Amino acid sequence: MDESQVSVAELPLARFLARCHAEYSRDQSGEVAAYIPELALADPAHFGIAVTTVDGYVYEIGDSTVEFTIQSISKAFVFALALETVGAERVESIVGVEPSGDAFNSIRLGSDNRPFNPMVNAGAIACTGLICEREQDGAFDWLLQALSRFAGRRLEVDEPTFRSERESGDRNRAIAYLLRNHGVLQGDVDQVLDVYFRQCALRVSARDLSVMAATLAHKGRNPLTGEQVVSSYAVARTLSVMTSSGMYDSAGRWVYRVGISAKSGVGGGIVASLPSQLGLGTYSPLIDDQGNSIRGLRTCEALSTHFGLHMLNRVGDVRTCIAASYDVGSVSSRRSRPPREQAILEAHHGEGAILELTGALSFGNIEYLSRRIRNLRSGLRYLILDLRRVPSVSEASLRLLADVLDDLAQGHVEVVFSGIPRGTPIEQSLSEWLPDRSGVRSIGLLDEAIEWAEDRIIHSETGDLELERSTDLSEQELLSGLDAAEMTALAELLVERDYRTGERLISAGEPAASLMFVASGIVSVRLQSGVRLATLSAGMAVGEMALLETARSADVWADTKVACLELALDAFARFRASHPRAGERIMANLARLLAKRLIVANNKIEVLASY
Ligand code: DON
Repeated sequence: MDESQVSVAELPLARFLARCHAEYSRDQSGEVAAYIPELALADPAHFGIAVTTVDGYVYEIGDSTVEFTIQSISKAFVFALALETVGAERVESIVGVEPSGDAFNSIRLGSDNRPFNPMVNAGAIACTGLICEREQDGAFDWLLQALSRFAGRRLEVDEPTFRSERESGDRNRAIAYLLRNHGVLQGDVDQVLDVYFRQCALRVSARDLSVMAATLAHKGRNPLTGEQVVSSYAVARTLSVMTSSGMYDSAGRWVYRVGISAKSGVGGGIVASLPSQLGLGTYSPLIDDQGNSIRGLRTCEALSTHFGLHMLNRVGDVRTCIAASYDVGSVSSRRSRPPREQAILEAHHGEGAILELTGALSFGNIEYLSRRIRNLRSGLRYLILDLRRVPSVSEASLRLLADVLDDLAQGHVEVVFSGIPRGTPIEQSLSEWLPDRSGVRSIGLLDEAIEWAEDRIIHSETGDLELERSTDLSEQELLSGLDAAEMTALAELLVERDYRTGERLISAGEPAASLMFVASGIVSVRLQSGVRLATLSAGMAVGEMALLETARSADVWADTKVACLELALDAFARFRASHPRAGERIMANLARLLAKRLIVANNKIEVLASY
C-alpha cells in the first residue's frame, strides 16, 4: 500500500501523539505571557503538536496550523545563520557557549563581558547584530528569507506583536546598550533591536516548527523542499547550544530527563530536534516561570521517555554494517566461464573477497570493518567494497577508511568500490580522495566489479582470457558425449549466423524456435530493464531453454562480433527421431547444465541468507 493511502491516525506515532494531546489538553497550569501586551491575547486552549521525519512525513494533531509568534525559538536559527555566514570565529568572539543558569532576559554578562550563550536575549541580540553588520538595511529581509527556508514556506511578521514588543522592550534596550558599551554590538541599537523584535514576531505554526526542527535533524536540509539551508557544521553547533542552553534555567534538568536538543519561546512554541530522525514542534501558550510551554514540555518528555529518544540512549550494533561477506569462489559474477577458467577461480577463491556494506557508515562501523578486513588478508589480492546500500559516510569514518586503504595498498591488495550511489554526498566525499590512492578504483555495479576481479585472477594464471577464441562444435558442453557420426549429422542441420557488436540475437516474448551455439565472441542475456542475467562466450549455448519453453524469457545481445551456429527446433526434432541416443544425451546434458546453475544459485542464496 502506498504511504499516502494510510490514514495518519492508523500510524503508531500518530496514535501516541493523539494520546499525549488528549491527556495534556486537560493540563490548565501556567500563564499566557503578558510582558509583551499583545502576547496576552493568545487563546490558552490552543494546543497543537507536529512531528516531521527526516524523510519528509508530517504528523499533525490538534491546533498544529494555528499561528503564533516564534519569539526566542528564532534565536537558534539566527545563531545557525550567523555561524554559516559570518563564521564561527567571529561569532565565538562575541558570544559564549556556556549555560547561564539565569532567566532568558537576564542583564548579566559573563566575566569577559560577552553574553553567556546565543539562546539568552543578550547573546541573541549580539547574533542579530552580526547579521545587521553584514546585511545593513537588508538585514531583516535577509533573515526573513533564511528563516522561511527552514520552514519551507514564506513566513510573515505579526505587526501588532512587533510593535507591542518595540514599545515595551526597554529591558532588551538596556541589554543592547550594555552590549554596545562592551563592543559586542557595533551598530545602531535601535536598528538592531528593530530586526530582533521583528524576528521574534514572525508567525509560525507547530507544523512550521516541526519542519524547521527536522531541517536541523536532517543536517541542514529541509526534508520537504530538499533545500540545503545551512551546513551540517552550523547545525551541529546550534544543536549543541540548544542542548546546553535551549531551555534556560531548566537546561540541566532538560538534558537529564529529555535529552533532545530543544528551544522554547514565550509565545508558547517549542522546537525539538533529534538528528537523523525527526523534528518536533508544539504550540500551547500556557508557559511556566521560565518561559517554557508546559504542555509542550510534557509532550517532549513523554515522547523521549516512551520511545527512548534521549540522545545518549543510542542503540546500534556496528557489525550490522556488513550485509554480506563472501569470496569469488562462493558467489561468481554473471559471466559464465569456460571449465578451465572456472577451475582457476575455484582454486584461487580466497584472492577475491567481497564485502557488501549497508547503512550510514560511522566511526564504529569502519573500525569494525578494519578488523574484518585484517582477518581476510592472507592471500587476498582483490577486495570489493559494495556501497549501494550506504547512504552516507561520516568524515571520521572516511579518515579511518583512508588508513585501511593505505594498508591494503602496501600489502598489494587492490580495492574496488562498487555501487556508489550517483549524485549523493557520499559520491562527492569519496571522489575527493579516491583518485589519489593507488590500487583503488570505482566500478558501477557489484556484478561488474566481481567480474573484474575474476578476470584479474584468471589472467594472472593464464596470461590471457579465453573470451576472444573460437571453438569447435565438439567443445560445446551441451553436445558432450556425442560420437563423430552424431556430431556430423547434427552439424548438417546448423545454420551459420553472424552478428555485429550491439546487435540483438534473441528478443524476449518471441516464440522460442531455435537455440544457438556460440562459436566465437561474447553475448549477454539481459532482462528488458537492462539487468544482466548472464554473459556467455565461445563453447556455450544460448537460447537453449527453447528445448523446454515455448517463448523467449529475456533478450540476448552481442557484446562483441559474434559467430553462432543456429539449430532450429523442428530440425532438432528430426535429429532426435533419427538419432534417439544423441537426443537423449543432449537432453541429459541440458539437465546437468541447469542443475549446475541451480547449485550456483543455491550457493548465492546460502551466502546472502546467512546475514
Ligand atoms: O526578547 C524577548 O523578550 C522575546 N522577544 C523573546 C523571549 C522569549 O521567547 C523567551 N523564551 N522563552
